[in-house]
Amino acid sequence: MHKNKRILFAVVLVLNALPYSFAQDKSITLTNLRCEMLVNPLGIDVTNPRLSWEIHSKERAVIQEAYHIIVSSSLANLTSDKGDLWDSGKTLSGKSVHVDYGGVPLESRTTCFWKIKVWTNKGMSGWSEPVYWTVGLFNYDWRAKWIGLDRSFPWDDADNQFSRLSARYFRKEFPAKKEVKRATAYIVGLGLYELYVNGKRIGDQVLAPSPTDYTHSVKYNTFDITTEIKQGNNVIAAVLGNGRYFAMRQAYKPHKIHTFGFPKMLLQAELEYTDGSRELIISDGTWKVTADGPIRTNNEYDGEEYDATMEIPGWNKTGFNDSAWLTTELVEEPGGKVQAQMNEHMKVMETIAPVSIKELTPGTYIMDLGQNMVGWIRMQVKGKSGTRVTLRFAETLRADGALYMDNLRDAKVTDVYTLKGGDQETWEPSFVYHGFRYVEITGYPGKPLLQNFEGRVVYDALQTVGSFKTSNATLNKIYQNAYWGIRGNYKGMPLDCPQRNERQPWLGDRSTGAYGESFIFANAKLYAKWLDDIEESQTAEGRIPDVAPNFWFYYKDNMTWGGAYLMIADMLYKQYGDLRPIKRHYPSMKQWLVYMEAKYMDNYLIAKDSYGDWCVPPESQELIHSKDPARKTDGEVIATAYYYYMLQLMQNFAALLDKPKDAAEYAALALKIRDAFNKKFFDPETLQYSNNTVTASILPLRFGIVEESMREKVFANIVEKIMVENKGHISTGVIGTQWLMRTLTEYGRADIAYRIASNQDYPSWGYMAKQGATTIWELWNGDTANPAMNSHNHVMLLGDLIVWMYEDLAGIKTDPSHPGFEQLVMKPSVAGGLDFVEASYHSIQGLIKSHWRKEGRSFSWMLTIPTNTKATVYMPALAVNNITESGKNVSSASGVRFLRKEGDFVVLEVGSGDYAFKTQ
Ligand code: BGC
Repeated sequence: MHKNKRILFAVVLVLNALPYSFAQDKSITLTNLRCEMLVNPLGIDVTNPRLSWEIHSKERAVIQEAYHIIVSSSLANLTSDKGDLWDSGKTLSGKSVHVDYGGVPLESRTTCFWKIKVWTNKGMSGWSEPVYWTVGLFNYDWRAKWIGLDRSFPWDDADNQFSRLSARYFRKEFPAKKEVKRATAYIVGLGLYELYVNGKRIGDQVLAPSPTDYTHSVKYNTFDITTEIKQGNNVIAAVLGNGRYFAMRQAYKPHKIHTFGFPKMLLQAELEYTDGSRELIISDGTWKVTADGPIRTNNEYDGEEYDATMEIPGWNKTGFNDSAWLTTELVEEPGGKVQAQMNEHMKVMETIAPVSIKELTPGTYIMDLGQNMVGWIRMQVKGKSGTRVTLRFAETLRADGALYMDNLRDAKVTDVYTLKGGDQETWEPSFVYHGFRYVEITGYPGKPLLQNFEGRVVYDALQTVGSFKTSNATLNKIYQNAYWGIRGNYKGMPLDCPQRNERQPWLGDRSTGAYGESFIFANAKLYAKWLDDIEESQTAEGRIPDVAPNFWFYYKDNMTWGGAYLMIADMLYKQYGDLRPIKRHYPSMKQWLVYMEAKYMDNYLIAKDSYGDWCVPPESQELIHSKDPARKTDGEVIATAYYYYMLQLMQNFAALLDKPKDAAEYAALALKIRDAFNKKFFDPETLQYSNNTVTASILPLRFGIVEESMREKVFANIVEKIMVENKGHISTGVIGTQWLMRTLTEYGRADIAYRIASNQDYPSWGYMAKQGATTIWELWNGDTANPAMNSHNHVMLLGDLIVWMYEDLAGIKTDPSHPGFEQLVMKPSVAGGLDFVEASYHSIQGLIKSHWRKEGRSFSWMLTIPTNTKATVYMPALAVNNITESGKNVSSASGVRFLRKEGDFVVLEVGSGDYAFKTQ
C-alpha cells in the first residue's frame, strides 16, 4: 500500500539532499539551486519567489548568456520537460541570482519542482538535477483555530517578574482513513513549540518559531510528515514553552512588554489520500491538553526545570488514555498576521566537549567548556528517583573559582533536572538557552565526569560562508572570537547578548556589524526578517524603536540606532544584490526621516541623540561610560552626520527605485545639512571638528561632509589622535569604530589599521583575547568594569573590523556598481606586518578565494573568481611585465586583461576561474 508513498519519500530524500547537483554536460555544471536563497524552502508563502543558481566550469572567463527554467507541479512533468507551472523558454540574460518566478500564479500547498540549464560563452550545460520548493498556506486557506488555556495552574508562578509557566502538552488522535499520499503539517506554537507525530519529533529545529511582535505577525513552520502518518490511528502532539510570548520576565520596568498572553497554538495538518481526497486535522476545541508534565517551568532567562518523574509515557502516541487531561479552549488570536517563516530555524549547530570539571566545595563542581558559547548542556546521569541536579551558568569565574554572576543582573540561569531513577538518563532542555563558558553542577549523584556532559551550540542554521586566516595569531584569535560571538547571538533576530536579563535585538549594535557578518554567515534571510520586525514596530507617526521586535517598547528617537534600518537594507543590496528589502521598506524609511526632520531638525542640525559614541574606552578601568568630555563626541555631531548619511543612502535607494524627484529632494536637503554642519562644527583656525575626537572627524570624513580641500588635514587629525595621544590605540566606541578601519585604509594608512587590529594591550580586541576572552566583550575594559553593564559576549564593538578583514586584508569586495558580487574589486591591503592572508567567501555567485603571501620582495596571490562574474584585480607590482600567472608572463594568461597602472598596483581585469599570480 505504501508504494507511492515510499517513492515520494525517496524523491523527497533525494531532493532534500540536493542543494548540490550535477548536470549531464561534463564541462559546465549547475549547483546550489535555491529558491528565495533558502537551502530548504518548505512552505514559503511568497507568490513570486526568486530563483538563483551557481555555474561551475573548469574553463576561465565563463559568462552566462541565457537560461532556461522549467517549473512543474510533479517530478514526472519535470522529467518530461513539461513546465506546467512555468517554462521560461530560452531567455537571453546573464542573471543567475534572484530571477523572478514568472509562471502561473502559485496556490497554497503546490510543490514546485524545478530545473535549469544555461548557455554560456564557453558552451551549454545539461539540465541541472531537479530541486523543489513548496508553497505554504496563504491566509484564506487556514481553517485551524487558536487553542490553549488562558490561565495558569496552581504549580505555576504566574504574575510577577520571575513568572514561568509549566510547559503545555497537546495531543489529538485521529484516523487516517485511507492510504496517505502526502501529509503536511503547518504550525504556529507560541512562544515556542516542539512537534511530534506518533511519538516522533518532527524536524531538527529548536526554539521555534522565530520571535516577532506577535501582535503584528506570527510565523508558521511547515513540515512534510508523509512518512510519519500511517493509515489508521495517528497522533499529532505538541509541547508549548513560554518563549517571548508569555514574557512576564520583562515586568521589571513598566514600559517593557510584560506578556502577550498564555501559550497558544495554531496547527493544521493536511492529509492527501492516494485517491485524491483530502482531509484536514486542525487545532480546535477537541484537542486534549495538560500542563502537568515533566517540564515544570521554563523561560529564556531563568532556566528550565524538568522533572523526569512526571513524564507521561506514551502521551504523544496512539492509544494513550487522555481522559484525565483537559480539553483545549478556543483562545483569542495573538493578533498578528500568520506568515511563513522565511528565515532559517535555530538548530543545534555544534556539540562541544567540556575541558575540565573541578570540585569547588564538596558536591559543587565547576565545569569549563573552554569557550564562551550559547546554547545548553546535554547531560547524562544515573541515580535515585527524585534526585535533583542543578546547573547554573556563567561567563567567567570569581577569584575563588565560583561562578561570577554579577554581570547577569537578575537572570537566574538555572536548569534543574529531577531523575526518574533506574538506567542512565540523558537530558537536555527544550525552551531555554544560556550564554556561558562555565557551569556549576550541584546535586549530581556520584562524581560528574567530562564524558557525562556536552555543550550544545544553538543558533540560526545559517551556512558558514567565510573563512579567514593570516600570519598574525592575534588577528586569527580575534576573528575566532568574533565568529563565536556572532553566531551565538543569532536567535531568530540578532541579540545584543545571550546571558544577562536583557537579550534584546538592539538596532545600533548591528548597523555595520550585519555587513561584516555577511562575510562569515549567509545572513540574508535573517536580516530581511529583521527589517520586517523593524517596520512592524514603526509607530503611526513614523518612529523607529531602538529594539525590534519592540519587546522593550523603547522609542528614543535617535539617528544612530534607527539608522540600522537603512544600513542593513543597503547591506542586503550590496552583498546579496537584493533590492526587495529597499523597495519594501522605502516608504517607512522615508516616513522615519520625515518624522525626525520635523521633530528634531533645527537649522539643519539635529541635537537629539541618546547614546553618543556608546562605550568608548573610559578614563578609569571600573567605569562603564566615560565621563571625560574630551573622550566623548557631541551627540549633535553624531546625529547630524548620521542624518546626512541617511540622505546619501536614500538618494541611492531613490535612484534604484526610479524616483528622481525624491533623490533630488534628498540631495538638496543634504547640501544644506552639510553647510550647517561645517559651519557649526568645523573650526577654520584649528582645522578640527568639534572636540576633535576620532569619531568627530571620521564621521564627516567618511560621509563626505568635509570639504575636499580639508580632507587630508582632517585625516591627519585622526592619525595624530590615534598615534600620538592614544599611542596607536583605539579610542572610539560603537559609532566611530564602524568606520575606523576602512577609513584608515582608504586614506592610505592601512598600517595604522593593522596596528590597531593587532594590538594586545588595552584597549583593543587583542587585549580581550589576551585576558582569555573567547568572544568579544561589550566594553573595552570588560575585565575590570562595573558588572551592571558588562557582557562578555556582545558583538557591537567589532565595528567594521570584519568588513576590513575581508574587503581590505583579503581584498574580497563586491564592485559597488555591480552589487551582489556580480563583479568584484580585489585590492588587498598588504601594508602592516602580515606575511599571508588566506580567505574565502562563498558569495551568492559562488566561491571566491584570495590567498596571498609576501616573501621578501615577491608577492604571490592565488585567486578564485566565480563563474559568471569578473574581477578588477589590483596586483601590487611595479609593472605588468613583473607579473606571472601560473609561471608564465601574465600577458599570455587566458582570462586576464591588463587595464592600467595605478599607484603601487597593476590593475587587471580577470574573468572567472583559478589563478596563480606572482611578482618578483
Ligand atoms: C545593550 C546594548 C544597546 C545599548 C543601548 C545596552 O544595554 O546591551 O547593546 O545597544 O544598551 O542603550
